[in-house]
Amino acid sequence: MRRIIAEDPDWSLVVVPCLSNLCLQSIVRNFEEKPIFRALTPVQKAFVQERLSTSVPLHVTANLIGDGVYWKRCCEQRWDLCDVSLYGNSWKQMFFERQMEHIIELFIPDVTESSAVLGMVPLCKNYVKRLEISQLLPPIKEPQKEEDEYGSELASENEYDGPSMDHFDFNILLNKLTNLEELHLVYSVKQCGMNFEWEMFEMTDRDCESLAKALKSCKTLKLLRLHQSHIEDKKCRMLVKCLLDHPSLRELDFSHNLIGDKGARAIGKLLTRNKLETLNMCDNDIRGPGAKAIAHALSNNSTLVSLNLRLNRLRDEGGEAIGKALLNNNSLRHLHLGGNEVTRPTAIALSKVLVQNNTLKSINLSCNNLGVDGGRALEEAMSHNTGITECDLRLTEVDEQSVSFINQVVWTNQSLEQKRRAQESKAK
Ligand SMILES: *[C@@H]1O[C@H](CO)[C@@H](O)[C@H](O)[C@H]1NC(C)=O
Ligand SMILES: *[C@@H]1O[C@H](CO)[C@@H](O)[C@H](O)[C@H]1NC(C)=O
Ligand SMILES: *[C@@H]1O[C@H](CO)[C@@H](O)[C@H](O)[C@H]1NC(C)=O
Ligand SMILES: *[C@@H]1O[C@H](CO)[C@@H](O)[C@H](O)[C@H]1NC(C)=O
Ligand SMILES: *[C@@H]1O[C@H](CO)[C@@H](O)[C@H](O)[C@H]1NC(C)=O
Ligand SMILES: *[C@@H]1O[C@H](CO)[C@@H](O)[C@H](O)[C@H]1NC(C)=O
Repeated sequence: MRRIIAEDPDWSLVVVPCLSNLCLQSIVRNFEEKPIFRALTPVQKAFVQERLSTSVPLHVTANLIGDGVYWKRCCEQRWDLCDVSLYGNSWKQMFFERQMEHIIELFIPDVTESSAVLGMVPLCKNYVKRLEISQLLPPIKEPQKEEDEYGSELASENEYDGPSMDHFDFNILLNKLTNLEELHLVYSVKQCGMNFEWEMFEMTDRDCESLAKALKSCKTLKLLRLHQSHIEDKKCRMLVKCLLDHPSLRELDFSHNLIGDKGARAIGKLLTRNKLETLNMCDNDIRGPGAKAIAHALSNNSTLVSLNLRLNRLRDEGGEAIGKALLNNNSLRHLHLGGNEVTRPTAIALSKVLVQNNTLKSINLSCNNLGVDGGRALEEAMSHNTGITECDLRLTEVDEQSVSFINQVVWTNQSLEQKRRAQESKAK
């Protein structure tokens, strides 16, 4: 049948897509077999990123498609909650960090192939900067063998002598992640339910040894957080030994463990050898001698800016030592001594620090029995101080009048500080 365009009301040029569009659609369809991307113009790249299937294997896309829409689509498809601001505003970083975390969190020793992790390394090592591991699984337990008359015979024949590791072995991974800056670890099992055993919430000696080695090999690490993992003095010392002189470590968080004075001494040594800026030892078992070791390190040209010793047992022996150390040159700005059974002598030691106004900006003494006299000493000191902009004296048995005076000074200084900042930013 003859057809004349002019007579055909359905005819429209739009129906014929551009050849270039057809080509792009074909590229999108056949991306897995023939990934053409680098040669495209930015507009064409955007077209492909918008339409490419998120199930194209990672070994094709990982090092080819840059950060942006494609990775945003991949993330939003996998996870309901996606806050890209937590990942340096990089969707690609989010995708690979969460992917890696997921693999490690589901890793079962002697069951999962280590290639499951190592296979990801070449794909993700350029994008993974932080790993936040919220669980580490133990090996599957062999069922207890029946004790029978052949028991000993069987045991001697059986080559199997326990699992080859207790949790995922970071030693195979960390030296390969060449951009890793932050590592948050907790040795625990989520939703263990009725299978609960204390062992599930413990880092073993063997874990500790391999982790320590791994940390030493990770030269880019800036922040290490290893909390709630049953670390006592021995493990703390093992870790510190491998972290001494670490080139980039700036922040260390061993909160909610079982570290005592011997571990604290090791930490003191770490402070003099590394350029640590933030130390969090909250909720451990540090007493006077341990605090003295940390104080000694503080007074020796330490670079520490923030020190958190909340919920330990420093008592006045430790509190006074910290106070004395702060009289020497140091860089500390934030100090937390909450819940440490410190009393009047510590308050007096700290008031000497406050009078001689140095760099201290915030101090938290809550939940200590400072008493009325301790409070008076602090009040007197604060009348000379112009640096403190945060001071917590709740539950310290300090007289209400002292507290309200101290708060007034703090608020004045706060508002003056804010004004100064506002002026500074205006000047810029
Ligand atoms: C201070 O630290 C240095 C290492 O940075 C060390 O050699 C020196 O002995 C320390 N001084 C004191 C008094 O501990
Ligand atoms: C701190 O460092 C300075 C110079 O770096 C040095 O002169 C001083 O002795 C050091 N102080 C201590 C207590 O090590
Ligand atoms: C502390 O530092 C100041 C200035 O940097 C210096 O004048 C003073 O001598 C130092 N004091 C001590 C005890 O090192
Ligand atoms: C405390 O700080 C103020 C303002 O920064 C300064 O004028 C004063 O000299 C300082 N006092 C001492 C003892 O360093
Ligand atoms: C802090 O407060 C005190 C008391 O109100 C005041 O004398 C002092 O000037 C304030 N500090 C600064 C930095 O202005
Ligand atoms: C002081 O420490 C307690 C306990 O950690 C905390 O609840 C409180 O907010 C802290 N105070 C300030 C001013 O940060």
